[in-house]
Amino acid sequence: MEPLRRIAIVGVGLIGGSLALALRRAGLVAEVVGIGRTQQNLDVALARGIVDRTGTDPALVAGCELVLLATPGAVLAPTAAAIAPHLDAGAIVTDAGSVKASVVRDCTAALGGRARFVGAHPIAGTENSGAAAADADLFRAERCVLTPVAGTDARALARVRALWEAVGMDVVEMAPEAHDELLALTSHVPHLLAFALTGAALAYRRTGTDAPDPFVFAGPSFRDATRVAASSPEMWRDILLGNATALRTALGAVRERVDELDDAVAAGDGDRIVALVGAASAAKRGAREAVARPEGTAVAPAEAPDTATVAPAAGPLRGSISVPGDKSIAHRALLFAALAEGTTVIRGVGHGEDNRSTMQVLRALGVGVVREGGEVRVTGRGFAGLRAPEGVLDCGNSGTTMRLLTGILAAAPFDATLDGDASLRKRPMRRVVEPLARMGALVDTTDGRPPVTVRGRPLRPAEILLNVASAQVKTALVLAGLQTSGRTVVEEPAASRDHTERLLPAFGATIERPRANVVAVTGPQVLHACTVDVPGDPSAAAFWLVAASIVPGSRVVIRGASVNPTRNGAVDVLRAMGARISERPVRSLGDEPVADLEVEATSLRATVVAGDAMLRAIDEFPVLAVAAAAAEGTTRFADGAELRVKESDRIAAMAIGLRALGIAVEESEDGMIVHGGRLGGGTVESHADHRIAMAFVVAALVAGSPITIRGADAIAVSDPGFLLTLAALRRGGG
Ligand code: S3P
Repeated sequence: MEPLRRIAIVGVGLIGGSLALALRRAGLVAEVVGIGRTQQNLDVALARGIVDRTGTDPALVAGCELVLLATPGAVLAPTAAAIAPHLDAGAIVTDAGSVKASVVRDCTAALGGRARFVGAHPIAGTENSGAAAADADLFRAERCVLTPVAGTDARALARVRALWEAVGMDVVEMAPEAHDELLALTSHVPHLLAFALTGAALAYRRTGTDAPDPFVFAGPSFRDATRVAASSPEMWRDILLGNATALRTALGAVRERVDELDDAVAAGDGDRIVALVGAASAAKRGAREAVARPEGTAVAPAEAPDTATVAPAAGPLRGSISVPGDKSIAHRALLFAALAEGTTVIRGVGHGEDNRSTMQVLRALGVGVVREGGEVRVTGRGFAGLRAPEGVLDCGNSGTTMRLLTGILAAAPFDATLDGDASLRKRPMRRVVEPLARMGALVDTTDGRPPVTVRGRPLRPAEILLNVASAQVKTALVLAGLQTSGRTVVEEPAASRDHTERLLPAFGATIERPRANVVAVTGPQVLHACTVDVPGDPSAAAFWLVAASIVPGSRVVIRGASVNPTRNGAVDVLRAMGARISERPVRSLGDEPVADLEVEATSLRATVVAGDAMLRAIDEFPVLAVAAAAAEGTTRFADGAELRVKESDRIAAMAIGLRALGIAVEESEDGMIVHGGRLGGGTVESHADHRIAMAFVVAALVAGSPITIRGADAIAVSDPGFLLTLAALRRGGG
């Protein structure tokens, strides 16, 4: 973010004060003016070095590039009106309020075109308030919602986004109404319940002096459930009144659940209680709240915690979104950083479970991995410094984690066992174990599959001809080769994705690429820490490319997606189907080309996906199959035998699912034929595969009636915010 010369914070409390502290610490602001109602709080802010100048006069905003309104909700619009005459032309005004629709409308009107307003809600805080509670770390790793509307200035929006990202927040955009509906359930109702429960405890205490004091005897559940009851009453008056409609709707839903439980208790119906508590408990234990968010996503209340029912789109998808950082690059960046000397900073590592698996495994190997806001910091130990793990290394669902680590650990001075979930346990490991054996590696598999035990030992270089094009295998061999003395050459039958080749040089390694399908490294080499910016994942972008292509009237911009030629097969396939996809200013993050992709709806026609296109779109097959189902004509997929050994047998999974929705499909060993037609509603299985689940969410958008996806919790493997992004696009606020 470009540093700011002078900003004003109106209301130097917990949020305003914390932002000033965080910006100052990062050296991102030269001067902070604090404006408030009481000089007493402003004096605390001055004494703590939060602000440079203070006062109660609204005219103090003159000369400020940016003004943050961090007052209680009810005074936001009057404050905007009071400062309006004193603002510099072009100044940006933003807020931090917990209610957005009314605030965006009223503040925009109050500013009367004198400034550029951007609605924002940093979702962070504690029960404490005032400048004394300000904390520079308050926003780290938390979410901030920006709520642009039709007239919002794009540059002001980008600056406000950069501001919150700079203090460590994960920024998402949403329509103001969508924000209010969501926050009603996730914040406003919980506060209201905390006030109500505390009120009931107070009433109990008043019942008589003999009764034990509930505040003294409270257990952890009472303490957890009432912690936020210590919040500021004025602030909560404004939030509850400011979001009354959405709050009361959400409260109604909670009340229904309370009544349901109450009825079951009254009726002595133990089975019913087990069912109700069981569903809640499973949802919490699975830590899958990200996908169990029905509000605004047009996903009906979940029948089971891992099931989602997605309604057809009622209108076009519109908005500008970003997708999680590319998973392939993130895994590599984390692993290379672990093997490097020094601390590597990686920006843009997505929050999916696969990335988490890699981070967890690295921690178990003694590597320092810390996520702070938008960055992951990895303190590497060098090739020789990894520590023998104490237990089994759990790679979860991630094949990339397991295969790349097998190559790394093959040369380690200890043994290690790698395991994963039921899906990973079905995936072939011989493809990596056999070529590694040619370098002297000793790896035991379980009938060719995980769990695998790697018996680390010194390796020798080798020249290896692979019989399957696989970037995972190629990378495992390169990482093993870097630990030998001599030249290792790996040749594939066709060129697979080349992220390893592009990223290793950033860590100071030398890697030769004599031909597109050949790599060579000469070991031993030492890696050095660096900074990596992970571009948006083209595989995640593909869902939106298809969704926006097939939902009539849609127009979606995907910001900052990788357009690495070894990965953008889906764009080529969709263009061959007639899709309207344009790429805007291509920039580079490291050696990876990046673009903003704009896609507009159109009618798709059938195509053939085979050979190189299939290889470059291998992970996008599930959603391309949905595109084929929605297209006119018969699409043929071939040369995709690999699809049978991904997170699920993706050919079978898509064929079964599409047939259940009324589409005629003929399966073959390495692909399938899809007869485009009218998608109907129904129930499909994800087969515990994130991409299958997301593909059917996209299918639901153009289906005749809702589609229920069993195992939708798998979505969290790569894009936990997927349904939230969909909700934003449905409302045109993406
Ligand atoms: C990946 C390579 C591909 C791909 C997988 C990720 C990688 O697998 O399907 O999702 O990051 O190297 P293969 O290497 O098995 O082709």
